[in-house]
Amino acid sequence: MCGIVGGVGNINLREYLLTGLKKLEYRGYDSAGIAYYESSEVIVQKVSGRVSSLEAVVSENIAPTVGIAHTRWATHGQPNALNAHPHQSNQKLFTIVHNGVIENFRPLRQQLTVRGYQFHTETDTEVIANLLERLFLRSGSVIEALAQTMEALEGSFACAIIFAQEPNRLYFMKKASPLLLGVAKGAGLLASDPVPMVDYTSRFVDLEDGDYGYIEADDLKIYHDRVLVKPVFATRNVDLFKSDLEGYPHYMIKEIEEIPSVVKRLVDNYYDGSEFLFNRNMIKALRSAKKIHFLACGTSYYASKMGAKYFRPLGKSVLVSIASEWAYDPYDVSDDTIFILMSQSGETADLIRCQKIINASGGITIAATNTKGSTIERKATYSLLLYAGLEVAVASTKSYVAQVCFLALLCAALKNENAVVAEIDRVAEALHEVISRKEEIHDLAKQVTKNKDAFFVGRGYDFLASMEGALKLKEVAYLHAEAYPGGELKHGPIALIEPGTLVVGLVSDPEVASSIRNNFEELRARKAKLLIFSLHKVSSPEDAFIAPDVKPYLAPNVLVVVAQLFAYYVALEKGLPIDKPRNLAKSVTVE
Ligand code: AGP
Repeated sequence: MCGIVGGVGNINLREYLLTGLKKLEYRGYDSAGIAYYESSEVIVQKVSGRVSSLEAVVSENIAPTVGIAHTRWATHGQPNALNAHPHQSNQKLFTIVHNGVIENFRPLRQQLTVRGYQFHTETDTEVIANLLERLFLRSGSVIEALAQTMEALEGSFACAIIFAQEPNRLYFMKKASPLLLGVAKGAGLLASDPVPMVDYTSRFVDLEDGDYGYIEADDLKIYHDRVLVKPVFATRNVDLFKSDLEGYPHYMIKEIEEIPSVVKRLVDNYYDGSEFLFNRNMIKALRSAKKIHFLACGTSYYASKMGAKYFRPLGKSVLVSIASEWAYDPYDVSDDTIFILMSQSGETADLIRCQKIINASGGITIAATNTKGSTIERKATYSLLLYAGLEVAVASTKSYVAQVCFLALLCAALKNENAVVAEIDRVAEALHEVISRKEEIHDLAKQVTKNKDAFFVGRGYDFLASMEGALKLKEVAYLHAEAYPGGELKHGPIALIEPGTLVVGLVSDPEVASSIRNNFEELRARKAKLLIFSLHKVSSPEDAFIAPDVKPYLAPNVLVVVAQLFAYYVALEKGLPIDKPRNLAKSVTVE
């Protein structure tokens, strides 16, 4: 993962780099570092931990000409200051920040060691810096050294590079990790995503895999396979990338509270009051496809499971695969299959790998992402947006509901079922009420702060919601939480129930209500601590939280939000870093 940011020219580079890095912390926050050219030398400063610690050690009086910075999610080497980026080559000619993984770094390191290079860290990045230096010393050209380095490296990399002999230039190279350039007044910028740059420019250049080159205050050059290519400038609506806590203590709770308006915005974008607004060719392609195959990871995978349930009654064969697994066994790429790629970020490496496989075979992909201009959005046959707005907290909340409602709308468009729109509007109303009663959920959370494990149980749609509920509790509250279909408990997991074991039961659908209630009794008989989240129509007086009714097929949108609030408050009571849980990153850009 990791986030990189770089700039050259006439702006306050300290401010730009450090603020930009904070905005990229969602990509990893194990360690942070900065390098800049000032007074004839490249200065490197690194810390273990957050950008705020780095900020404390970087002098406020610096005035560099060029600078790079990095926030790290450790892949190779422990998350300490030594392994933090930037890394320098032996003669300090090249200073580099890197996002990605170099798969052949061991043999390259060996070759360089034989030639006298010394390595001081456990990282793969130090190999890139030294390789660049060696190839520059042989060729005398940085651009040629970049081309040769790219040929030698296997794996993924987005790199920003300071060359000590050119203090007014910032070099870059990219393959399979995100990187884009920003063109500001009097400054050239680059970063892993637009967010660090949006206060300076709305003009960007999306780099393609294999691109390398440099930026200067008022120039940029991009090369591909040793050929100079013309940059393609794109203007982005920068407001979409700005975000503020606006008085909330955490982004997670702010983003949960935004969900009703996210649902409304989604409906407004895909329904004009009488007709669905989806691309007609895409609808035609979906109608004639024999198979629909969803690919996704994490929360987006659980949302896709809902989508599969919606699409099956269309008489198609519908599959859902975890992207990282499907990539090893890429079946089903044929003319009669459409792949739906679900991704909040649009940058998830496992999914990008799947997309490359499908694209190479000429398959059709529909990307549903929350990020305009993201890799998955740009490389799909049909691209659709989720309109959830920038999601900052590592735990996905509003994007889950946006994904599920999006899939319900898409399915309704295929079936010409306009009534679905009113049913989705009702979800927004029900969520208003749930959010207004959030303190009831807070009180429930206070009861379980000592629990180490939790089970989520449900049947049908509620089982699918249980999976996402368990993921939230794992991620932000660090509870070992697992979801089971109610009927499966007796086939093994019930052996784990002891007096006091936390079980969260979900029930929304009258069709399964009596069976799941039987399961709840079995758990109660074994003295589990049972918290039941239900919808009004199927509620029972002893339920822990009773939410307003919505149609059962949309109920996960309501019960998952109850579970999100529950996870949030458990984490809050435990004093955990809610928006940036340990070991995680928002955008998973390594496989
Ligand atoms: C969700 O809370 C997680 N942080 C994670 O599972 C996430 O959903 C997953 O990494 C997929 O990300 P994407 O939607 O950006 O592709």
